[in-house]
Amino acid sequence: MTEQDFLPKSYSNFPDNGFVKWKAPSNIALVKYWGKKPVQIPANPSVSFTLDTCATTTSIAFTKKDEQEAFSFDLLFEGKPREDFKPKIQTFFERVEKYLPFLKEYHFQIETSNSFPHSSGIASSASGMAALSMCLMDIEKQLNPEMDDTLFYTKASFLARLGSGSACRSVKGDLVQWGAHENIPNSSDEFGVPYPFEVHEVFKSYCDTILLVHKGEKQVSSTVGHNLMHGHPYAETRFQQAFDNLDALKPILAKGDLEGFIKIVESEALTLHAMMMTSMPYFILMKPNTLEIINKIWEYREETKVPVCFTLDAGANVHVLYPLNHKEEVQKFIDQKLAQYCENGQYINDQVGKGAVEIKG
Ligand code: DP6
Repeated sequence: MTEQDFLPKSYSNFPDNGFVKWKAPSNIALVKYWGKKPVQIPANPSVSFTLDTCATTTSIAFTKKDEQEAFSFDLLFEGKPREDFKPKIQTFFERVEKYLPFLKEYHFQIETSNSFPHSSGIASSASGMAALSMCLMDIEKQLNPEMDDTLFYTKASFLARLGSGSACRSVKGDLVQWGAHENIPNSSDEFGVPYPFEVHEVFKSYCDTILLVHKGEKQVSSTVGHNLMHGHPYAETRFQQAFDNLDALKPILAKGDLEGFIKIVESEALTLHAMMMTSMPYFILMKPNTLEIINKIWEYREETKVPVCFTLDAGANVHVLYPLNHKEEVQKFIDQKLAQYCENGQYINDQVGKGAVEIKG
C-alpha cells in the first residue's frame, strides 16, 4: 500500500452523529527510530514490542455542524479541559485532513486518558496518537462501511505516524516493524506492519518492567532529538547499523536466541544515548540512577545467568526486559535491588500485548 491508497474516493454514508472509543498501547523499540525526514519519514527502520498495560483510551463523540471552514473540537484529558493540548491536535488535523476529508464536517468531543500517571515521564505520544487515529478511522469506516480490515489498520498506522512516528507501531501486532528495509517484505516508511517473520514463543509474552527513574518532563523533546541527527558526524553509520540490526534480529527472534537478543537490544539503547551525547548541542539523558540500574542488571545477569536486559527511551527511565518464565525471580530482584533507584520506588509492570482494541459501550 502507498499514500495514494489512503485518499478516500467517496463516502456512501454521512451519519448526523456518533460515538467511537479505542484503547491503544504504548510500545518499546528494540531497534530504535532516531532521525527523520519531512514528513515523519524515518531515517532508518525500527522494530518494537507492543505493550499492554501502558495505554491511552480515547473516545470521540461527533456531531454534524453547519459551517465547514475550520476544525472544531473540544479536548478533555482525564476529565478536564486541556487548552494546552489543542495545538497538537490542530496540527495533526491539518496534516491528515487530506486523508480524512470529513474532518471539517463534524464537531468532535475528544476525551482521553492514560493508564499510567501523566507525570511518569513515559511517552504518551505513541499511545495517544494511535488511539486518536483508531477513533478517526472508526468514524471513517462508518462513512465507508465497505472498507476492509487491511486498509483500516494500515491507514490507522499511517495516520498515527503523521502524529508521532513511534505511534505507527502501536496499532496492530505484538512485534511491529516500521521503515522500508529491502529484506523485509511489505515494509514501509509510511506505516508500521506486524513483524512478518517467524517469532519464537518466548518473545510473545516477554515482560517489560518500566522503572521510573525520573518522572519529570522530558529534557529533550522528540522533535529536537530527531533533529540532532541532521549533520550528526555519526549519523550515516548509525542508520546503517539499524538496518543491519534488523537483519541480525531475524534468526534471533525466530530461534528465541536470548543471548543474541540481549546484545542487540542493549547496544541499540546505548547507541541511542551515544547519539545524543555526541550531537551538537549534546545531552546526557541518563541520570546517575539509570547507570546504577544498568550495572545492577549486568551483575545480576552475570551471577544468575537469568536472561534479563534493559532498554531505554530518550530519557532516564529504564525498561527491564525478561522472559515470562523468569518473572518471579526478576520481580524479586527488582524489588530488592532496583526499586530503590526509582522515584518514590515506583515502577510499572507491563508485557507484550497485541495492539489497539475497540472499547464497546
Ligand atoms: C527514542 O515517535 O516520539 O522512543 O516522530 O517526533 O513524535 P516523533 O518522535 P517519537 O520518537 C521516539 C523515539 C524513541 C525510539 C523509538 O521509539 O523508536
